[in-house]
Amino acid sequence: MRKQPHSNWWKEAFDLLYLETDARSVEDPAQTAREVDLYLKLGGWKKGEPLLDLCGGHGRHTLELLARGWGPLVLLDYSSALLLEAKKRARQRALHPIILRGEAQHLPLKDHAFAGVLLVGNSFGYSPRDKDNITLLKQAHRVIQPKGRLVLEVANREFIEKGLPPTSRHQTPSGLTVERFRRLEPPLLICRERVIHSMKGSIKEHSYCLRLYYREEVEKMLKEVGFTKVKSHPLLSPHPPGEDRGTMEGRLLFVGWKA
Ligand SMILES: C[S@@+](CC[C@H](N)C(=O)[O-])C[C@H]1O[C@@H](n2cnc3c(N)ncnc32)[C@H](O)[C@@H]1O
Repeated sequence: MRKQPHSNWWKEAFDLLYLETDARSVEDPAQTAREVDLYLKLGGWKKGEPLLDLCGGHGRHTLELLARGWGPLVLLDYSSALLLEAKKRARQRALHPIILRGEAQHLPLKDHAFAGVLLVGNSFGYSPRDKDNITLLKQAHRVIQPKGRLVLEVANREFIEKGLPPTSRHQTPSGLTVERFRRLEPPLLICRERVIHSMKGSIKEHSYCLRLYYREEVEKMLKEVGFTKVKSHPLLSPHPPGEDRGTMEGRLLFVGWKA
């Protein structure tokens, strides 16, 4: 049976189990450090300038930035489970992010508050409706100071359409099996995920969708919401060759400048 994700699927998907199922991508400190190197290079911010890690999940980029002496940093996400985890990890490392729970479409933040916003790690395109995704970019633009910059990472529509395998299966660090069944209904990618415990059987099953965008579409959206200059960059290949990391593979990276 074909299960369709509901449009707010992301409000429930990001629990602690996600940190296990996606550990290869989001629990690898070396990879997070490489990503942060790249974002800093592209963002061109100065130390001491305020940054926002928008849809920052459990704060892996926030904590890495703070550990390097960047900040102040605000981490905003919708998932209370991930934010609690971020708080715990920040305490363990004696780091001090400002952690806020909220929806990126209605940011509880003042205009022009940040020199930079990071919207990275495939946190964009969660709504099947362009209008919602554009609202998110408008909000990011609103909270950036004049001359500030957005660094945005987006799943790569061209790459996915060319050959994302329809199924994938991998083991998590604690031995769970994660199966993914993907189908393309352009411009959407729909994925059903099943997490299987060797003794208990299926312990989670859910569906999600991503609105896929081509490079030119993202550039156009960024300009439409007010970024005066937009540049795209290839993402350094973060994964070992031959592993199927789904939409984290071949991501597109953009920098948008606010005038
Ligand atoms: C794939 S995770 C990436 C998290 C983080 N950027 C990273 O790279 O580890 C996507 C995150 O975006 C958050 N998210 C997605 N849409 C959101 C929205 N509209 N408002 C707030 N958080 C959102 C989810 O809760 C989730 O933590």
